[in-house]
Amino acid sequence: MQRKDLDQWWRSAVIYQVYPRSFADTNNDGIGDLPGIIERLPYLENLGVDALWISPFYPSPQCDAGYDVADYTDINPEYGTLADFDRLVEQAHARSMRVIIDVVPNHSSIKHPWFEDALAAGPNSPERARYIFRHSPDGPPNNWGSMFGGSAWSKVRPLTGKDEDEDWWYLHLFDSSQPDFDWSNPEVHELFKNYFRFWLDRGADGFRVDVAHGMVKVPGLPDDTVGPDRWTKGVRPESYLETRTMPYFDQDGVHDIFREWRQVLNEYGPDRMLVAEAWVEPPSRGALYVREDEMSQSFNFDYLKSPWDANHIRKVIDQSRREMGAVGAPVTWVLSNHDVVRHASRYGYRDTINREAGIGPRDPQPDRELGLARALAATTFMLALPGSAYIYQGEELGLPEHTQIADADRQDPTFARTGGKIPGRDGCRVPLPWHATAPNYGFGTGSPWLPQPDYWGNYAADREDADPTSTLNHYRKALKLRRELGLGTGDFRWVDSLEGVLVFENKGVTVALNFTDQEWAVQVSGNIVLAAGKATMGAQLTQLTLGPNSAAWVK
Ligand code: GLC
Ligand code: CA
Repeated sequence: MQRKDLDQWWRSAVIYQVYPRSFADTNNDGIGDLPGIIERLPYLENLGVDALWISPFYPSPQCDAGYDVADYTDINPEYGTLADFDRLVEQAHARSMRVIIDVVPNHSSIKHPWFEDALAAGPNSPERARYIFRHSPDGPPNNWGSMFGGSAWSKVRPLTGKDEDEDWWYLHLFDSSQPDFDWSNPEVHELFKNYFRFWLDRGADGFRVDVAHGMVKVPGLPDDTVGPDRWTKGVRPESYLETRTMPYFDQDGVHDIFREWRQVLNEYGPDRMLVAEAWVEPPSRGALYVREDEMSQSFNFDYLKSPWDANHIRKVIDQSRREMGAVGAPVTWVLSNHDVVRHASRYGYRDTINREAGIGPRDPQPDRELGLARALAATTFMLALPGSAYIYQGEELGLPEHTQIADADRQDPTFARTGGKIPGRDGCRVPLPWHATAPNYGFGTGSPWLPQPDYWGNYAADREDADPTSTLNHYRKALKLRRELGLGTGDFRWVDSLEGVLVFENKGVTVALNFTDQEWAVQVSGNIVLAAGKATMGAQLTQLTLGPNSAAWVK
């Protein structure tokens, strides 16, 4: 391996996203915690991942599941202590796994001391200049809408009760509990430089940057072309965070911020990384985020958003490789995270309707068997692509989306802010099943913060561990082979194939995925080393037969 690949370990890494609230609960309060992650490190090591990305664990009123941060340099007491964090890093490192944490720089919680100081200090104070307050007697200062529905502006007066705050508003691109920072204020830059040093000193290997395309707003805050209530008016565009020409997303100024952060990381050596959550279009704009002196890589949301369509996926792969290649950044691959419908359910429909809004009990329900078959084939294919791959907790068990959560149990602010029209993201955040027959499927004995469906035991880790044909054992095998064969740092070339079947070669391994509902024969020589679904090799070892929604690696 070259020096660059050793330092820049993320270029080929498999990174497992831990959503701490739903991972494992050790003190039985129904909420996952850091000791729960520590306890399961052997499970993650055995799964074969190179790194963990842990979603926010900071003190927070949990109005947006921890993406509303009240203190950037401490741990939510529900989750544990800084000493637990230190133990987690130490033990993960001892098992050769790196730790990436989640930085939330676009906004804080209204309970952050800075926002509390700002409220107390009153209009036009330096404290208020850290956020975006505006005076506007005739309603909200502009037409911007919250990503979760409704206006992006809330009135200050109900929070302070003071007359002087009449006609004052504050900006929140997300929930009203998440006020946006003013990144034109140098104090905000200092806050985050100190944040990075604090966690780098404690051994963090990298940072996942929340809403990296946010932060910088066009001066004067001009109206956008969407207006408020993007969801309820049905203009919610195709992606979870639409960016095209929005005056608050993907502004050129964000790149100066990343350069500043990169320099802070460089103080700690070349092996610390930044990964961008940047929902930007077109892909050439996305490539700007991962130039040499900015972020290390970014999530490939075009890949995640691809429908079950061979031509579409092929195009995304080509485009991603071209755009990332042009700036020397590694390509990443991802199919699920805590903001989207799990791929085992997304693919469980024969139509191509966008399920971005989540799935609730009143929506058409996915076909669980079809969804799992396709998900397994898709992941098998993805894990053979060169570059880095992100997997989301529970997908290694084949977990579907929980699509039957009752209205009263919904926690995602999107549900309330859209008057219940949009189910939201709770269905992919349900606490994990560890033991098929234990209370709450082994998550912990306290009632879980989101309800688990009654079939959860079928996906429990202990049951799958004991079953050689389980999804869990398939993931383990795939990750082990991927490592042994060096596929993450491999090369890539398409092998000409049939309509509806994609075939590529990486380091002498031929990888094929059949998207259709028919059986297909593909000309390729070798032995099957990994199969999802139905795959058989002819007696001459020159013809692979793939069943519907199946995939295989041949060497
Ligand atoms: C990101 C997070 C999402 C959160 C939002 C606001 O998109 O992934 O979960 O709600 O930012 O912080
Ligand atoms: Ca707990």
